[in-house]
Amino acid sequence: MVGKEHVSMIPTPKGQPWSAKVNGTPVEVLAPSNAVLLDVLRDKVGTLGVKRGCDLGTCGCCTVMINGVPKLSCLTLAGQVEGAEIITVEGLSNGAHLAPIQTCFATHGGSQCGFCTPGFLVASQALLNENDSPSRDEIATAIEGNLCRCTGYQQIIDAIEAAAAIHRGEVEGAEPASSPHPDPHPSGPEEPTMPPGHAK
Ligand code: FES
Ligand code: FES
Repeated sequence: MVGKEHVSMIPTPKGQPWSAKVNGTPVEVLAPSNAVLLDVLRDKVGTLGVKRGCDLGTCGCCTVMINGVPKLSCLTLAGQVEGAEIITVEGLSNGAHLAPIQTCFATHGGSQCGFCTPGFLVASQALLNENDSPSRDEIATAIEGNLCRCTGYQQIIDAIEAAAAIHRGEVEGAEPASSPHPDPHPSGPEEPTMPPGHAK
């Protein structure tokens, strides 16, 4: 039946089960055997905080922690990390309570347009997990694979230094939010009021 049936011209690989622990939760999804981790995380697992910047390994936007080590998910085959513990930017906060690195990026202007921010946050947290007293040179080295077109990097380094001080217990972290923000439109937005003379 012309126009009804889709006949694929290029055979696509069949999905096969892929499992890992993502942000502390065991996940199992179907993915092609040659799937790239970035695609699996975004399209199958739903962790859209993992950003696709260049897809070439040059921008760092897609950085995730794999067994504690920051890696570029666009250059990682999902099959290589089967069963691994993966942390994306969504896994840094504790529910509604932001991690110190997240609040410090906000308070120090480490994020402007925000597109690079998930990758920076994950790379920075990986550094702080290993070293809570990094020098500015060590911070610069830890984020050298992450590109930012907005901030000029100084604010990012300031933010990581500030978060390190919180990790060391020298500075109080920001007050955590007690609960997630409620949905302002739980039953959907109301119909807008139209000015007189306008048809609905
Ligand atoms: S999207 Fe992976 S490094 Fe740019
Ligand atoms: S905040 Fe815009 S690219 Fe970094």
